[in-house]
Amino acid sequence: MIKLNNYPTKDPVLVTCGLPYASGQMHIGHLRTYVPADVFVRLLKKMRVDVTFVCGSDTHGTPVIVKAEEEGLTPKETYEKYHKVLADTFPKLNIFFDNYAHTDIEENHHRTLQIVNTLIDNGHIYAKEIETPFCDTCGRSQPDRFVRGKCPYCGSDARGDECDQGCGRYIEPGLILEPRCAVCDNPTRPITRKHQFLKLSAFEDFIGDFLKNVDGTKNARNFALGWVKEGLRDWCITRDLDWGIKFPGDDSLVLYVWVDAPIGYMSSTEVWAKKIGKPKEWEKYWKPGNGRLVHYIGLDIVQHHCIFWPAMLKGSDYNLPSAIVASGMVKIEGHNFSRGRGYVVWVLEDYLDRGLDPDYLRYYITSYTSQTKDLDFSWDAFAEKVNNELVATLGNFLYRGIHFTHKHFGEVPEGKFDSKLKKEVESAIETITDAVNEYELKKVADEVLRIAAVGNEYFQSQQPWKLVHFRRTQQRTQGLGSVI
Ligand code: 2FM
Ligand code: ZN
Repeated sequence: MIKLNNYPTKDPVLVTCGLPYASGQMHIGHLRTYVPADVFVRLLKKMRVDVTFVCGSDTHGTPVIVKAEEEGLTPKETYEKYHKVLADTFPKLNIFFDNYAHTDIEENHHRTLQIVNTLIDNGHIYAKEIETPFCDTCGRSQPDRFVRGKCPYCGSDARGDECDQGCGRYIEPGLILEPRCAVCDNPTRPITRKHQFLKLSAFEDFIGDFLKNVDGTKNARNFALGWVKEGLRDWCITRDLDWGIKFPGDDSLVLYVWVDAPIGYMSSTEVWAKKIGKPKEWEKYWKPGNGRLVHYIGLDIVQHHCIFWPAMLKGSDYNLPSAIVASGMVKIEGHNFSRGRGYVVWVLEDYLDRGLDPDYLRYYITSYTSQTKDLDFSWDAFAEKVNNELVATLGNFLYRGIHFTHKHFGEVPEGKFDSKLKKEVESAIETITDAVNEYELKKVADEVLRIAAVGNEYFQSQQPWKLVHFRRTQQRTQGLGSVI
């Protein structure tokens, strides 16, 4: 295997996490991305890397409108409600962003329009008439999550813009087969409408080269390379909706949520830069230079980050991602994650509100499996990992080491390093550094546990309590002697 040496680095690194839709509570599926990203950021900080960590809520698109209609709220009231829930939940999980924004802030509207206008000026956008689903019963266009049908690629039941039950592919407007309205379940009829397209086909060679060089996890790169090989279709970037950022020059269309959502990474960095009193600091990541962008995402949004997003950045003259790290999906007690069927663990209701420590869950997520594999959450496995690994091995080691030292010395006493033990620690640092370079944090957790076990064995074999007892007795005898 080739050994990568990307970290530590002197280059500044921006780490982002896929923006959660502000349309519901946080669940364990979200954490599959946020926890590893937070751990990765902490490890880079330990390596003294100049790192910034940003995220925010995704406030546009049909997920927010669907929720608003369910709750009898406006989309704005909906995202305000859930943005607050999300923003308040992250710190309770010990996930600390340098900035957590949302995509309806002024900075995001401004940056989105700037990017779209640049894409237009650079000749990357064109208008075309297409047929999209209209529901006569509901009396409106039903794009994306408002329509269900058969996936044109694999034939599974799918929603308008994503094959959520089958192959996971993004589905262009008008391509879903046998469409029916997701609100009233009646078949929709096609209407012809002018939409705006990004000329993705012209970026095919560029995306192919970009993917060959981008760092991160293999799953992201390989999936995306497969799609490039099949040929890239131009990408419809507008929707017939009221809620969203208006397309410049045509107020009857809004931008597809996947245009302004990733730009949220950029605008959140801009807000962070203002917050630290250096308004231009965001440019060190986003304008061409030595800044590195590392995107942590779920496997379901690889196409957006490996194909659409780099094309948008390239076409508007911004920096490109250095690494795309895609996590496997989450299963609950062996079942596919499903809110409807109850295979879900809500972070507040099912976990934090029961008084469970966030670090137990963070450890479970980090150490359960490789970043790219599916993670199965089960309460039995959770209890076992906490009891046998965190308490019995790591907890025991820390308790013995720190408590013992504090009790008998009040500080770390002077002494000579045991050379065998020193080698063990050096090898652990090397293993952990390699693991960070592979974005494989399970290897980090395993190594920490290994070194704790080595420490426990060492403690046991050296029996330091006997040495302390011996030293005490000696001191007492010497003290008495001098009195006599
Ligand atoms: O799939 C999702 O949940 C989206 N809200 C992720 C957006 S990530 C980014 F590009 F903004
Ligand atoms: Zn309908």
